[in-house]
Amino acid sequence: MLEKIKSTANYISERIQTKADLCIILGTGLGGLTKEIKVKDELSYSEIPNFPLSTVDGHAGKLISGTLGNKEILAMQGRFHYYEGYTMKEVTFPIRVMRQLGIKTLIVSNACGGLNPGYEVGDIMVISDHINFFPEHPLRGPNLDELGPRFPDMSRVYDPELREKARQIALANHIEIREGVYVGVSGPTFETPAEYLMFRLLGGDVVGMSTVPEVIVAHHSGMRIFGVSVITDSGVPGQIKEITHNEVQHVASEAEPQMTLLLTKLISEI
Ligand code: HPA
Repeated sequence: MLEKIKSTANYISERIQTKADLCIILGTGLGGLTKEIKVKDELSYSEIPNFPLSTVDGHAGKLISGTLGNKEILAMQGRFHYYEGYTMKEVTFPIRVMRQLGIKTLIVSNACGGLNPGYEVGDIMVISDHINFFPEHPLRGPNLDELGPRFPDMSRVYDPELREKARQIALANHIEIREGVYVGVSGPTFETPAEYLMFRLLGGDVVGMSTVPEVIVAHHSGMRIFGVSVITDSGVPGQIKEITHNEVQHVASEAEPQMTLLLTKLISEI
């Protein structure tokens, strides 16, 4: 595993010249943020050794190096989801590689369903905490002490200082943001009304099919983490409508301008 991480990181650093210490993962419908990046180099995931092979047709994903808000960054356009059939080690492999490349701060974005009755479709939520509902844990198995501790503390995963900065940026720019708990599930089904209610009763504000595995591994490797969600559909009793992936993408892309503003300003302050 260590060898694989190092050889993949070497491959990337031979092709991408970067001093970035921040990486952003662009979730469903939020890939448009790349328009704001002054791109220096790009690598398609398919040419990166040991990266999982994408299962999504015509949308293989790529690693971008460039500047956003005067800050040098790496961006992952597209991620690997557990529901696609990857193991958790595969889903989180790129995070290990990012750490090896010197990334110290990870920004994750995603689309999700709303559980909190105070939230509306289209809202942006800063993640304050998560509940891991995936059936497989990314850190299960022998621990590599070089990568992180056997039993990671999880009391402060989402960086309080970055969340405070985001609050101030939102206030100053008239962006309304929520802050709450993300429940991570395997998918690929959206939830039944009874499941949405259960996740609400368990303490969730939103539910989605990504982010938690990557965040666990990033935290294990000592990264600072900021997570942000777009609520693309409602799981609140009485408000649940039929939902499709197209709709999720559409709503997420509508939130993109605000999301871009928030993240660009946040990144420039890090
Ligand atoms: N549930 C799970 N994942 C999601 C949802 C949802 O309602 N919306 C977008 N991703």
